[in-house]
Amino acid sequence: MNQKESIDYSELHQLDSPANRLMRKTIWGNQDIGQQSFITPPYLDELIRKTGIDADTYVLDIGSGVGGPAIYIAQQSECRIMGIEVSDVGVERARKFAADSGLSDRATFHLGDAMEMPFPENTFDVIISLNVINVFEDKEELFRQALRVLKPEGIFTFLSGAVDLPDDPEVIKRMSRGCLITEYYDTAGSYKTKLKQAGFQVVEVIEYVEDCRIQIKLWGDAFNKHYDAIVKEQGKETTDHHVKYFDTYVRLIDEGRAGNYLFISRKPK
Ligand SMILES: C[S@@+](CC[C@H](N)C(=O)[O-])C[C@H]1O[C@@H](n2cnc3c(N)ncnc32)[C@H](O)[C@@H]1O
Repeated sequence: MNQKESIDYSELHQLDSPANRLMRKTIWGNQDIGQQSFITPPYLDELIRKTGIDADTYVLDIGSGVGGPAIYIAQQSECRIMGIEVSDVGVERARKFAADSGLSDRATFHLGDAMEMPFPENTFDVIISLNVINVFEDKEELFRQALRVLKPEGIFTFLSGAVDLPDDPEVIKRMSRGCLITEYYDTAGSYKTKLKQAGFQVVEVIEYVEDCRIQIKLWGDAFNKHYDAIVKEQGKETTDHHVKYFDTYVRLIDEGRAGNYLFISRKPK
């Protein structure tokens, strides 16, 4: 399946639409940094600390969305950061976000598909990716691309949902969402295998189960709370699907089948 055809984040990227504004307030309140994932600032603070990102680090953010997390990391650590993002709406928004924050020189955004990584080899000290990796069909190939553009001993860290789907057609139907294609879901174990096969050394895997449940429940509650406003923007079918998606996701977490994991790996010398 063509990744580009299956992806439409253009609605989510309109942060200021009436429905998105209501949803963002319900989900994040004063922790809204322009994220479009299950992260909050404490996740990024931990990520900066764990990966040692500082003023001398050049970071690549795969699937940078509207740039909120990249800009937060640049502000907190003074690093230089490049986002690669396939949605033109997202990139445009991210560039404006960087300019408004006075960070255009340190936070830049490239419009492109991460499967066709356009950077020279050994460019970045750290590569990050936040709730993006599970959309890729061939993750091992993506990891090889990351390995190529990372400097030796550089760190590749990504946060991703990992799901062990039951053999239940109804659950499978409910868990596909836009560009999230259930056949591409990985378990934490298969992610580790693919990282190693691509040439990475897996350093640490952190599982965020409790907080992942809180974040996903917040998304589901926001869809229920602002149902009418969301239906007006996104239509009834999509909205109903999202309500079922988040409800099913919480159930899978409770059954021990789903979680959000931070994988930290290193490129060998
Ligand atoms: C769930 S959002 C996360 C955005 C951002 N990381 C954040 O935390 O706010 C996933 C993002 O990945 C982007 N994406 C999906 N496939 C991609 C690809 N092949 N190359 C680059 N970006 C991609 C989507 O357009 C979307 O903005």
